[in-house]
Amino acid sequence: MDEMHRYTDETEALSRAIVAYARNRIASPQPLDGSASGEELTRRAGETVTPDGLGGEEALRVWSEVLAPATISTDHPSSMAFVPGAPTKAAVLFDLVVGASSTIAAGWIDGAGAIWAENQALRWLADLAGFPDDAGGVFVSGGSAGNLSALVAARAGAASRLGGRPPTGWKIAVADSVHSSVATAARVIDVGIVDVTGDERGRLTGAGLASTLDAIGPDEAASVFAVVASAGATNAGTVDDLAGVADVCEARRLWFHVDGAYGGAGLAAPSVRERYRGIERADSFIVDPHKWLFAPYDCCALVYRDPSTAHGVFRQEAGYLDTVNKPEAAWSEWNPADYAYHLSRRARGLPLWFSLATYGTDAYREAIERVLTLTRETAEEVRVRDELELVMDPELSVVLFRRLGWGDADYEAWWRRLLEAQIAFVQPTTWQGEKLARLCFVNPRTTIDHVRAVLGTMVS
Ligand SMILES: Cc1ncc(COP(=O)(O)O)c(C=O)c1O
Repeated sequence: MDEMHRYTDETEALSRAIVAYARNRIASPQPLDGSASGEELTRRAGETVTPDGLGGEEALRVWSEVLAPATISTDHPSSMAFVPGAPTKAAVLFDLVVGASSTIAAGWIDGAGAIWAENQALRWLADLAGFPDDAGGVFVSGGSAGNLSALVAARAGAASRLGGRPPTGWKIAVADSVHSSVATAARVIDVGIVDVTGDERGRLTGAGLASTLDAIGPDEAASVFAVVASAGATNAGTVDDLAGVADVCEARRLWFHVDGAYGGAGLAAPSVRERYRGIERADSFIVDPHKWLFAPYDCCALVYRDPSTAHGVFRQEAGYLDTVNKPEAAWSEWNPADYAYHLSRRARGLPLWFSLATYGTDAYREAIERVLTLTRETAEEVRVRDELELVMDPELSVVLFRRLGWGDADYEAWWRRLLEAQIAFVQPTTWQGEKLARLCFVNPRTTIDHVRAVLGTMVS
C-alpha cells in the first residue's frame, strides 16, 4: 500500500506539526540565524535520505533544529545584506495554498483561475509603469530568468526585422552598473556586450549611450539589438536616465529593457515615481516581488509592451500540446508558458496577487514609502556620525557609506562580527574600486533603531 499518498493518522499529525511550525515562523519574532559548513551539517543532521525514511516528525525536527538555524531569515528586520525580502503574512500563507493546490500554471486549459489572478497582479504592475492595455507577461523564477527571457525576445524581434543575424553577431549595450545577471544572460545566449560609461554615479544616460553607439562605428552599432537600463541598480540603488535611454532606443530601433528587479517597487511610491520617467516607453521590464513587493521566493514579474514577439519565440510545439496551442480557443486565452523559457510552472504570482487582494494597493504604497523614509533617516544618521561618510544621497533604498580609516579586512571582520552577535546580516560592497559599507532596505518593519544598532558597531 502506498502510504505516501494516503491521508493517514501520521499525515494528520504531520499536517498539524507543519502548520504549527509555519504559524510560529510568521507569528513570533525569529532569530536572524547563521550559516554552517556542510561537514558540520552532515555531522549534526546525519543521513537524511535513507531507504526507510526518517518519518515526518524526525525530518521536521532535523529541519527546525539543525538546518533552519543554518539558514538566514532574509525577512528579519536586521537583514540588510544583498537585497533582502519581506513577504507579507497573507503572501506567506497563500504560498502554502499554492503548494497544496497542484496547479500547473503553464496554460489556460488547466490553470485558468490561477492565471487570471496572476494576470491581475501583472496588470497592476503594467499600469504602474504606464504600459498599454495589451501589454502582458508572466511570472518567472527571478530577475535573472526575467532578464534572460526579455533579451531572447528582443533578439528574436531584431532578427525578424533585419532578416537574420548581423555579420558582426549580436550585442547589447549596458552600463557597468547593470546587474551581473545581464552579463550571464548575454553569455548564455552568445551575445556580446557594448560597455557604456555611466555618469558620476554609474548610471546609464541617453547621452552616454548615444555617444558610445556613435563611437563604435556603424558595423558594430548595427549588431546592437537591445539596451538594458537599471531601475534601480543593485549596488548603489541608482536609477538610470530612462527617458534619455528611451529616446536613443526609439531613434535607433533598439529594444529597451528595464531591469527593475530590485527597484521596480518604487513605481508605486509617489515620492520617487518621477525617477522612473521613461519606463512607459520600454519594450519590457521586470520587477521581483520577492524583493521589495513583499512576496515569498521565487517570483519575478516580466512584462512586455507587445507580448507577441515573446510568444513567437517561446511557444512550445508538440503533438500532445495541440489543444493548448489553438490560438482561437477559449481554453488558450493566455498561456504563461509562451512568454519565457519554461513550460511547467508554479503559479508563483499567486502569493503576490493574494496579498494585493487582501491588503489593497494603498497598503503597498505606504509600506514602500515607509522603507524609503527609513532610508532617508539612515542617510541622515550616517551624515551626523564623525566616523562615517555618506557616499551619495540614496535614490531608492540603498545606503552606501564609508567608515573612515577602515580597509577591506575591517569591513570583512565587521559583517562577521554582526552576524555572530546576531545583531544584523550586512555585507560590504565594492563601488568604483573602493570597499564600502552598504545597507539595503526592503522591510517596512526595519526601524531606525535596527540601523543604529548596526552603525553603533562601527565606532571603534
Ligand atoms: C537589479 C537586479 N536584476 C536582477 C537580479 C537577479 O534577480 P534574481 O536573484 O531574482 O535572479 C537582481 C538580484 O538582486 C537585481 O537586483
